[in-house]
Amino acid sequence: MPQKKINKTEEYKSMRSVVAKALGEDTDSAVVLETLKDFRWHMTLYHCAIREVQTKFEVLDEELSISRVRNPIDHIESRVKTPESIIGKLRRGGYEFSVKSMTENLNDIAGIRVICQYVDDIYTVADMLSKQDDISVIKVKDYIKNSKPNGYRSYHMVVEVPVFFSERKHYVRVEVQFRTIAMDFWASLEHDIKYKKEIPDPEVLAKDLKECADIAHSLDARMQAIRDRIL
Ligand code: GTP
Ligand code: MG
Repeated sequence: MPQKKINKTEEYKSMRSVVAKALGEDTDSAVVLETLKDFRWHMTLYHCAIREVQTKFEVLDEELSISRVRNPIDHIESRVKTPESIIGKLRRGGYEFSVKSMTENLNDIAGIRVICQYVDDIYTVADMLSKQDDISVIKVKDYIKNSKPNGYRSYHMVVEVPVFFSERKHYVRVEVQFRTIAMDFWASLEHDIKYKKEIPDPEVLAKDLKECADIAHSLDARMQAIRDRIL
């Protein structure tokens, strides 16, 4: 028996119970089965949208690696939000759980993280993606120019990309986070700490983290300057 098939069945069962719980219904009630069908179909759309956008980045990376003799993108990570997390976020935002509400209210069900070596590569690649005629830019947040008070830096973009299915094309939103390796290193540590319950001296830690973010930022700037002198 192929492993993938077993996992699909497990995934379906778990999705079914999560959806039933969110709707306050029995797992085999008609409304649950109907919602689940629509929900699964949308999850597929989000997976496909990620592949579309990821391919665009890979193409740009390959092209630029020839014209500029180095790769602007270090690596790409992606994920589709889990059903539990989608339902939790809708609830926290005060929205009802339905497929319509999810597509209208959440921009980050499909997420891609593009990790670049240098800050200028982030702007180059982001600009190139924005200019592609099948991409609509819905929202941009530049936390590199305007870092968050805790020190967080990244360039965020929500884009809409068409996904072609047999009958029609669907426009799907994807959240793209661009970071340098240094920003990503910092954000991973900060993210891990955020979920720790008992933190000794939280103010000292926050100050320390902020300092690290600023050091990482100046490291990015200095390394880019060295690269410009030499390459
Ligand atoms: P959500 O935060 O997703 O509800 O949406 P938003 O549009 O209000 O937020 P924003 O664009 O500011 O951030 C979206 C995502 O960026 C988050 O889900 C995180 O993945 C990441 N992010 C934002 N701020 C921080 C931060 O302070 N630390 C870390 N580690 N990640 C952050
Ligand atoms: Mg998010």
